[in-house]
Amino acid sequence: MKPELHKIYAVVNQKGGAGKSTTAGHLAYWLSQQCSIIFIDADGQQSASPWMQHLGLKTLQMSNPEQLFEELPALSSKYDAVIVDGPGNAGEMTKSILGRCDIALVPNRPSEFDLRSSGIIIQFVRHVRELRGGMPKAITFINAAKAKRSILLREAKEALENCPLLLSDTVIYDLTCITDAPGQQKTVFQMKGEQAIAAAADYDKLFKEVLKVLHG
Ligand SMILES: Nc1ncnc2c1ncn2[C@@H]1O[C@H](COP(=O)(O)OP(=O)(O)OP(=O)(O)O)[C@@H](O)[C@H]1O
Ligand SMILES: [Mg+2]
Repeated sequence: MKPELHKIYAVVNQKGGAGKSTTAGHLAYWLSQQCSIIFIDADGQQSASPWMQHLGLKTLQMSNPEQLFEELPALSSKYDAVIVDGPGNAGEMTKSILGRCDIALVPNRPSEFDLRSSGIIIQFVRHVRELRGGMPKAITFINAAKAKRSILLREAKEALENCPLLLSDTVIYDLTCITDAPGQQKTVFQMKGEQAIAAAADYDKLFKEVLKVLHG
């Protein structure tokens, strides 16, 4: 499935360390293999920018929510895909991003605390949908799952199944190659070894699912 053009993809969750920048970076690279993209670093720490620049991807840093809200439509008409990496808080920036994106990806670590705290982002999505006639589309997924902690994973899935966002079938596991990717100025798609191949396959599956939701 080809990406629909001129779409805005956002990775949001007010919880710090959920995996937003990691996911946004991999999504940006994955989409860049199929169409023209721009990466918007709206994370106050701007940690993903050097990683994206090293990968040769066009990157813009934005720290003002009003500016982001005003400029996103023009950017999305200029590029086939705009990928926005959101901040780790529930402030104005997250609201501006949700006010403009076509689809929100919400990574969740499989711990009870994270699942509870993502209630805020779910509420934000619900409120913005009321204002935007059902937009944005949204998909949540479990990130950094420990392969052997199957009970925790099952509990996380059960908790997320009751949330109003679509739950992805794909789980992204806690893998060293994913942690190491930005430091190596790579994504798992360019890394060698069994683990990187498995991680690349999981991201590919997740992002294809995102396109399906966007098309649907
Ligand atoms: N699936 C994963 N496997 C291994 N490490 C991961 C995975 N996802 C994220 N990490 C690691 O967890 C840490 C936090 O991830 P990341 O920076 O993507 O989170 P974030 O949501 O962008 O955080 P912030 O809210 O601070 O911007 C990083 O060190 C990252 O490498
Ligand atoms: Mg981040």
